[in-house]
Amino acid sequence: MRYPFRVMKNLHNRSTKAIFVFAQAYLLPVLLACAAVSGLQAAAQAPVPDSPAIEAKAHALLAKLTLQQKIELLGGVDSMYTQAIPSIGLPRFKMSDASVGVRTWGPTTAYAGGVALAATWDTAFARELGMSLGKDARARSVNFLLGPGVNIARSPVAGRNFEYLSEDPYLNSKLVVPYIQGVQSQGVIATVKHYALNDQEFNRHNASSDVDERTMREIYLPSFEAAVTKGHVDAVMNSYNLVNGVHATQNEFLNLKVLKGDWGFKGVLMSDWAATYDGVAAANNGLDLEMPSPRFMNAETLLPAIKNGTVKESTIDGHVLRLFRVMYRYGFLDRPQFDPADSTYSVADRAVALQGALESITLLKNEGHLLPLDPAKIKTIAIIGPNAYPAVTGGGGSSEAHAFEPVSTLTGIANFLGPNVHVLYSRGLPDMPEVFQQTQWQGGIKMETFPSADFTGTPETSSPRSIGNLRPGMRGPAARAPRSIRYTTSFKAGEAGKYLVLAASSRQDAFKILIDGKQILDQGHAEGQVPQYATIDLNAGQTVSVVADYLPRTPAVNFGLGIVSGPDLVSADAKKFASLADVVVVAVGFDPITEGEGHDRTFALPWGQDQLIQAMAAANPRTIVTLTGGGGMETQNWLDKVPALLHTWYPGQEGGTAVAEILFGKHDPEGKLPVTFDRSWEDNPSAPYYYGVSGGDTTLHTVGANGKPLDYTIQHIKYGDKLMVGYRYWTTEGKQPLFPFGFGLSYTTFSFSNLHVPATAPSGSAVPVSFDVTNTGKAAGAEVAQLYVSDPSAKVSRPERELKGFDKVRLAPGATQHVTLNLDARAFSYWDEQAHKWTIDPGKFVIRVGDSSENTPLTANLTLK
Ligand code: BGC
Repeated sequence: MRYPFRVMKNLHNRSTKAIFVFAQAYLLPVLLACAAVSGLQAAAQAPVPDSPAIEAKAHALLAKLTLQQKIELLGGVDSMYTQAIPSIGLPRFKMSDASVGVRTWGPTTAYAGGVALAATWDTAFARELGMSLGKDARARSVNFLLGPGVNIARSPVAGRNFEYLSEDPYLNSKLVVPYIQGVQSQGVIATVKHYALNDQEFNRHNASSDVDERTMREIYLPSFEAAVTKGHVDAVMNSYNLVNGVHATQNEFLNLKVLKGDWGFKGVLMSDWAATYDGVAAANNGLDLEMPSPRFMNAETLLPAIKNGTVKESTIDGHVLRLFRVMYRYGFLDRPQFDPADSTYSVADRAVALQGALESITLLKNEGHLLPLDPAKIKTIAIIGPNAYPAVTGGGGSSEAHAFEPVSTLTGIANFLGPNVHVLYSRGLPDMPEVFQQTQWQGGIKMETFPSADFTGTPETSSPRSIGNLRPGMRGPAARAPRSIRYTTSFKAGEAGKYLVLAASSRQDAFKILIDGKQILDQGHAEGQVPQYATIDLNAGQTVSVVADYLPRTPAVNFGLGIVSGPDLVSADAKKFASLADVVVVAVGFDPITEGEGHDRTFALPWGQDQLIQAMAAANPRTIVTLTGGGGMETQNWLDKVPALLHTWYPGQEGGTAVAEILFGKHDPEGKLPVTFDRSWEDNPSAPYYYGVSGGDTTLHTVGANGKPLDYTIQHIKYGDKLMVGYRYWTTEGKQPLFPFGFGLSYTTFSFSNLHVPATAPSGSAVPVSFDVTNTGKAAGAEVAQLYVSDPSAKVSRPERELKGFDKVRLAPGATQHVTLNLDARAFSYWDEQAHKWTIDPGKFVIRVGDSSENTPLTANLTLK
C-alpha cells in the first residue's frame, strides 16, 4: 500500500526538509535531554515471555472495554496505526514497511534485503540486518515492522520476489529466524508476511493458489512455520489471495488449524492492506486485526452477528487479548517507543547496507579471468546503461525505501577509481516517453473515445500528434463513467529489420495492440501494469496498420505507444564511449517501475537492454554486464558475447560501492544464487501453471458482509508443479539449468574433503555430518558449503535432493575449516498426506556436499533404522 506517500511527499518538499534538518539539529538534543530528565529513557528491549502476570493485565484491560470498543480495536486507523482507546489510556501503535528499509516515515537506510539477503546465505548477517531494521524502526517510534516477507520464489516473473528470500524453504527458514530475533531484540514487533501462497502479483485479490497439503507443508509453509515456532515472531500478515478457494484472511485451515493450532502462534494476525473481504468470516477464522481500516470487521457487521450468535463475543475477546498480550510483553505502555540511542540516519547502518551488498552480489560468469580488474591498468572506463545512474536500490511498491544518499554504479565506480581514471557515462537508451514522442506515425492518428467499456456507442474523435500521455506507475481513483479509447494509425519502416513495439499504461488500465490485424500485446491483468514490448520484423518501406485498444480505469488518459527500430535504440555516444574505453560496464535489469508490487514482471529484460548489451559487446570485447532484479532473467541473446556477468539483485543504497569493490578485487565475490537461473521462462517448472491457463478455471463468488456484498471472480491457479520448485525440478529431471541454485563464482577456489557420515543411525535421531572446506586459491574468500539429502527408498516420490544444511566459511588462502552440520528428524521427513504428519521412511538416504545443487563432490550413504 503506497498511501503514506503524502507523508513522504511532504518530507521531500523543501520547507519541510528544512524543518526536518532543524528538528534533527536542535529539537532532538532537547527531546533527548527532556527524556533523560523525565526518566523516560528507552532502551532496546527484547520482549519478555508470556506469563500469568501478563495474562492477568491483559484480561484486566479487556474488562474495561465495552463490546463496541473491543470491536473498534479490530481495525486499523490512519493507514499505519492500530486504534487508540483514550478512555482506558490505550495509545495507538505505529507501523512501517519493511523488507529493505524502514520506509514509511521519510528517508531511510535502504539495505540489500529480501532476495539479496538470501544471496548472502549468512545467518549472522540476517540477525545484524534485523537489528539495524529494529533500531531504524525505534528511531521512528515504530512498534510493528511490516516484514520480513518470506513467500517462496516459485517463478522468476512474480513481481515481489525481490522482497522475499529464496526458492528453498530450508534456506528461508534459516534466515528468517535470526532476522526476526534481530528485529524483535530491539523492542519492535516483526510481521512475517504474506501468509500464505502469495506467489504471484497478477490479480492478487482474486487469484486462488490451489495446492495440495503436502506441497504446502513441504514448500510454501516452512518459512512461516520457522518464523513462528523458532523465531517467535509476534505478528503475521495474511495475504491478499485465496488459498484453495478461500481468502487467506478468512481461511480456517491456514489461520486456525495451522498457524494458531499446529504452530501455537500467540501474536497478532493482521490482514494485508485491504485484504479482508468478509467481516464475519474473518473474525471467525482467526483474523485479529483488519488493516488499514475496519471496512469489514466493524460494529455494523459484527454487532448483529454477535447478537444472532454467528460470532461469539469470546472470539472478539480473543482477538483483542492478542494485541494486549504483545503490548505488555514489549512494554509498549511502560516506555516510549522512540529510543534516543537510535537515529534515523546512521553511519553504522550504512556499513550494514554495504556489507549486505558485498555479501550478496553474485558473480555468474568470468571468462578468461577478466575480473578482478586491475585499477592501475585502466585509463578510461565506460559505464553505460539505464541502471548505471541513478542508483536502483530496490524494487517498486510498499517496500520502496527512499535512501538518504544512494550510491549508483556510476558514482560507486568513479569514486573508487578516483580522479586519474577517465569515466565515460551514457544511459545508452532513450526514455520510454521519448520513444512515444518521437515515433513517426504515417498519415496521422485517429483517437476515438467511446462512452462504453467495449468500444461501442458513438465515439468522440480527435487527432493527437503522438500516443504518449504517460506517467509511468501512476494510479488514481476509479473513473466514474466507463470509457474505451481506440487509436488507429499506420507505421512505415525505414530500413528492413527488427522493430520494437513499446506500450505502457497506468497501473490499473488494460490495453491490446494489433499490428496488421494481429494482436501482439495484451495487458489485461486486473491490477498493475508493466511496460510491455514486442518485436516485429519489417521490410524496407513496409507500412503496417496499428490499432491500440485502451481501457482506462481512471479518469486520466495514461497510455503510450511507440515503435522504434532496433539499431536506432542504442545511442551513438554509448557506442563511441564503449569503443574508446579499456573496459565497459553495462548496468541493466529491472527497477521500481518494471518490477514491483501489484504486477508481475517479464522474464525478458526491459525493452532495448538486449540490444544495448549486444552493441556494447560488439564495440568492446571487455564488456561486463551487471544485472538488477529479483531473480533470473533472459540472457540468451547476449550471454555468449560477454565475458563477465554479475547479478547485483537489488543491492540497497551502497550497491555502487560494492560493485566497484568487487569488480576491482577489493572484495572477493561471495554471493550464491538463492534461486535457479533458467534459460527461458518456458524452462521454469511453474510456467505451465503460473497464469492458471492449464487446468485453471474461474468462478464468480459473492460474499456478503451484512448488506455489503462484494462480487469477485476467483481465478484458480493450480499448482501442478507441486514440490518441483526450482532446483528440485532440475535435479529430479536430471537436467541442467543455466546457473544452478547455490552457484556463485569467486576469485579464489575451494575444495571439499573428508566427509564423515555415520553408516547407520536410529530414525528420528540427530545425525552429525562433517567435512573439510579448503581455500585452494590465492585470494581470501568465502564459500557456502551446501548439504543436500536424497531419499531413494521413500514410499512416496520425493524431489531428487533437498537442501538440509549449509555453512558459510571465510578462509584465507590455503586455510581449511572443519564443518559439522547436524541433521535433525525434519531433514529426512516428508509430509504424509494420509497421516497428516511428518514421516520418515527408514532405509537408505544419500548425503551430498558441495557448492551448488548441481555440484556436490562429496557423497555418502546413510541408513536410518
Ligand atoms: C503490501 C504489504 C504492505 C502494506 C502496507 C500492502 O500493499 O502488500 O506488504 O505491508 O501494503 O504498506
